[in-house]
Amino acid sequence: MYIPIILGTGRKGRQSEKAANFMMQETTKAGLESEIIDVRDYRIDATDSTGESPQAKKLAEKIVKADGLIIVSPEYNHGYPGELKMMLDMLYKEYAGKPVGFCGVSAGGLGGSRAVEQLRLVSIEFHMLPIREAMYFSTVQSLFDEKGNIKDESYFKRVETFLDEMIKYIKNNIKGKSK
Ligand SMILES: Cc1cc2nc3c(=O)[nH]c(=O)nc-3n(C[C@H](O)[C@H](O)[C@H](O)COP(=O)(O)O)c2cc1C
Repeated sequence: MYIPIILGTGRKGRQSEKAANFMMQETTKAGLESEIIDVRDYRIDATDSTGESPQAKKLAEKIVKADGLIIVSPEYNHGYPGELKMMLDMLYKEYAGKPVGFCGVSAGGLGGSRAVEQLRLVSIEFHMLPIREAMYFSTVQSLFDEKGNIKDESYFKRVETFLDEMIKYIKNNIKGKSK
């Protein structure tokens, strides 16, 4: 199973990269194929949904191949970053029917939950299948040590539950398609 991880902010000094790396580490540990899709590598000047840009073509290749998607997003002023929306909007039909799981990141205690809830709605418009489980990386500035290791052990159980549900959705999806 190939489940790429979208890192949804290009902000200089972004803490979300640590959460994305943690998700990558745990996804690989669970025997899944993954890679980080970094919004920094898909920058465009303005919204373009033609699918013709090199960035859109590069993204489409990965999304078409994906069995599911994980999106890691910080919360900016109670929303998700505009650059993430611009990247997602480059494609449309490629997302259809793919399970998607969300990971919110914040400096505060709510773990980016408001950004996650907004992303759920957007994913439905893309005909994706948002999973119920989510990861919330709260007080991210002190959650990881200087080597990038997570300090709160409870996240290992949480990520296991998250990935279990992701895999269930993907398996049911594959079963459904073969009917
Ligand atoms: C423009 C901007 C707006 C922000 N708004 C919120 C917010 O609404 N809620 C919140 O919990 N944190 C907010 N933060 C702080 C982020 O949670 C914090 O930067 C955290 O490290 C995750 O984002 P990062 O990946 O950019 O580091 C904001 C940060 C920026 C740069």
